[in-house]
Amino acid sequence: MNVLHVCASPRPFQESVSKQLAAAFFAKLTELNPDINVINVDLYHSPPPFLNYEGYRAFWMPIKQPGYQPTAAEQKATGYAVAQAQQFRDSDIIVLSMPLWNCGMPAIMKAWFEQVMVPNLVFTLEEGAVRPSHQVRKAIVLASAGIVLKEGDPADALTPQVEAAMKYVGVTDIASAWADGQDTPQAEDRMLMAMEAVEDLAEEVAQMKF
Ligand SMILES: Cc1cc2nc3c(=O)[nH]c(=O)nc-3n(C[C@H](O)[C@H](O)[C@H](O)COP(=O)(O)O)c2cc1C
Repeated sequence: MNVLHVCASPRPFQESVSKQLAAAFFAKLTELNPDINVINVDLYHSPPPFLNYEGYRAFWMPIKQPGYQPTAAEQKATGYAVAQAQQFRDSDIIVLSMPLWNCGMPAIMKAWFEQVMVPNLVFTLEEGAVRPSHQVRKAIVLASAGIVLKEGDPADALTPQVEAAMKYVGVTDIASAWADGQDTPQAEDRMLMAMEAVEDLAEEVAQMKF
């Protein structure tokens, strides 16, 4: 089983709630399935560029004008995306760990999505229909937040965005565990609940057959 872990907290492990949550998930998962192959992408160590005009044209012009050949400059702008998309394509599971920032995902994670979720890298577009060209079966969000969130909380725009983006590329099985309330007096209790939730998730994933 190949798992791609994309992490978007700038804080060091000792301070980062989402990194500790992810570590608990992977500790349990590797305990249950020692053969698991995890690729870690810390976006603050491998930062994605913002999608620029050249990158946009390299990815989208062949869709708009079949047979379009990207220029050398346009081709050059695809380097990060091509390397990251290869890792995405080779994964069975994708784990996204991050804090909630301004009610959504950190900009560096959004930039990663804009690099990777592009046609001819992780899906093809045939007469407007998206056809996945990857093997990812499940996406898992491990997230942290300062406030306590309720189900479907409008202060959480991260969950619906990840779900919509993943579903667009054909990943419909999406689970999440939140250590929310981290800037409240309930922080410790909420973290304990989140740790239990990630252990359950790890058990679920370990039982998946590939
Ligand atoms: C720039 C910034 C924006 C934040 N925005 C929110 C927010 O919109 N809602 C929320 O509940 N917490 C917010 N927080 C708090 C973090 O989500 C919280 O501290 C989280 O535990 C940090 O995770 P980390 O330790 O993995 O980096 C914000 C923190 C920062 C630094």
